[in-house]
Amino acid sequence: MAVLDIRIAGDPVLKTVCEPVGRIDKKIRRTLKDMADTLYAAKNGIGLAAPQVGIAKRMVVIDLQDGKGLVELINPVITKKEGSQIVGEGCLSVPNFEGDVERAEYVECEYTDARGQKQFIATDGLMAVCLQHELDHLDGILFTDKAVTIVPKAPED
Ligand code: NI
Repeated sequence: MAVLDIRIAGDPVLKTVCEPVGRIDKKIRRTLKDMADTLYAAKNGIGLAAPQVGIAKRMVVIDLQDGKGLVELINPVITKKEGSQIVGEGCLSVPNFEGDVERAEYVECEYTDARGQKQFIATDGLMAVCLQHELDHLDGILFTDKAVTIVPKAPED
């Protein structure tokens, strides 16, 4: 178990277009596990992209905390988007702000899992939003880059 440091907006790695993952070896699987540990250690996180822990590779972990468990995505690509919605978002790398972002309502996504198997997700709701947010991280884009409004986050008690 390794909880990694989460990089905060202003860190250049968050503005980097990440490299595709090549061979899925022990090191990649270890990194995905560390990313999951980091996600679970963070308060209120539902997704984490590799650049958020300083690794400029195309990997994402998502757990919507809805009982469906962890999804590990390697080299994910959104292959279809439909509809449009305005969604309130936050980000572990932008701890003090939240904002409204325009996102597609429905997305289809292809990726490779940690065992090297090709996978496909067709989804709407929170998962669709989370996929779009996390995949943006892999291209160096933060929600604050496209938000229509950004406001300071209400302090948590
Ligand atoms: Ni984020």
